[in-house]
Amino acid sequence: MLVMNRTLDETVPPLPAGVRPPERLDLPGGVSLHRRAPAHAGPMNAAVTRNLEHLRPWMPWAGSAPTMEESREIAQSGWQAWADGTDFLYVAGLEGEPDVIVGAFGLHGRIGPGALEIGYWVDFDHTGRGIATQAAAALTTAALELPGIHRVEIRCDESNAASAAVPRRLDYRLDRIQQDAPITAPSETGRKLIWVKEA
Ligand SMILES: CC(C)(COP(=O)(O)OP(=O)(O)OC[C@H]1O[C@@H](n2cnc3c(N)ncnc32)[C@H](O)[C@@H]1OP(=O)(O)O)[C@@H](O)C(=O)NCCC(=O)NCCS
Repeated sequence: MLVMNRTLDETVPPLPAGVRPPERLDLPGGVSLHRRAPAHAGPMNAAVTRNLEHLRPWMPWAGSAPTMEESREIAQSGWQAWADGTDFLYVAGLEGEPDVIVGAFGLHGRIGPGALEIGYWVDFDHTGRGIATQAAAALTTAALELPGIHRVEIRCDESNAASAAVPRRLDYRLDRIQQDAPITAPSETGRKLIWVKEA
């Protein structure tokens, strides 16, 4: 069974029917976030495969390249989770290049009622251009506009400086540091920063 970057807590209630974030968010510079669909399985497989070395230090599922079957399964289950109101996955694309994925983002309903967690990674060749910051800003706004959502969190390992720079730039508050977080990827220290933005 594939290790996924999602540990859905079954005790977290889904968002009510009809309460969903936008399926598309346009960012500055011709980048858009789109709801991740079954049709993205191929482009996601290619994007993850070419980014394995970049992702492996921080992402528990980046030990080896996904098979196409695994990518199809993830795309399908992500599509279903959106419909179920539990997890909202996006791909980032560039204007005029529909088959190239330059990052993946999510609003994850796994941190308790009334809250969503933002997750992200950006294609190695597109880092350092503000894509993660702009996407996280748009997702923060979208999440806090949802009825019943009053808190958004970004969680990252203390040593992941590039990731921590994102909530810092967006004026998230460093709420706490979890000292004994499970180490799930090679560069993690087990000290997890938990950044919070409240409505
Ligand atoms: C973290 C990640 C998503 C950032 O994406 P990005 O699009 O390059 O981010 P942005 O361009 O919006 O901003 C990055 C910020 O980090 C800074 N940064 C980049 N690398 C850094 C490093 N090694 N040390 C410190 N700061 C760093 C940038 O300078 C920028 O901040 P600034 O504008 O204040 O200078 C990307 O590096 C990535 O995919 N990393 C691997 C996967 C990962 O770690 N995901 C998060 C898991 S919690």
